[in-house]
Amino acid sequence: MKLVVACFAATAALAPIRTTSAAEIAPADVPYDGATIKTSLTGVPGNPEEGAKVLANRSLGNCLACHVVTPLAKEQFHGDVAPTLDGVADRWSPDDLRGIVVNAKHSLNPDSVMPGFYTLEVGINVRKDLVGKTILTAQQVEDVVAYLVTLKDAK
Ligand code: HEC
Repeated sequence: MKLVVACFAATAALAPIRTTSAAEIAPADVPYDGATIKTSLTGVPGNPEEGAKVLANRSLGNCLACHVVTPLAKEQFHGDVAPTLDGVADRWSPDDLRGIVVNAKHSLNPDSVMPGFYTLEVGINVRKDLVGKTILTAQQVEDVVAYLVTLKDAK
């Protein structure tokens, strides 16, 4: 029950922000190769500092509602319904991570509670004003991936 409440709160806090540019791959055209996406969604390298902000921002990624990320420990209220993202770059390649962030239901687990951040397949009962919008922009996805690849376990 606690988990359900936490997930609902996390999902409800996500407000969509959307900008488009000509070079950007549209959500419906994302070229999945199995569970991974081998092509940048924008052609512009991700910025890890911007990515860290998206992870912590409650109206963008809100990743910390569910995931512990030790380097972002100064941000409050880390949830633990999901695996820690510490060392995630040792477990997944950058292309895998792009696939997971775009749509975890496609890449990880069809029943995942993790929101699909760059997909229009967000299920039923979508608020009318949110139809056709993604939670993150394509560039924000690239920024998040650029940050995730820095999360290696200290050896
Ligand atoms: C509502 C909770 C929730 C939110 C919000 C969320 N995730 Fe997740 N995430 C999960 C769960 C649960 C899993 C474990 C896989 C599964 O069963 O769905 C997961 C798995 C992952 C994995 C794979 C971890 C591993 O070690 O295998 C990555 C990477 C990831 N999430 C990144 C993110 C990022 C980046 C964000 C924010 C942009 C985010 N998640 C937001 C719940 C969430």
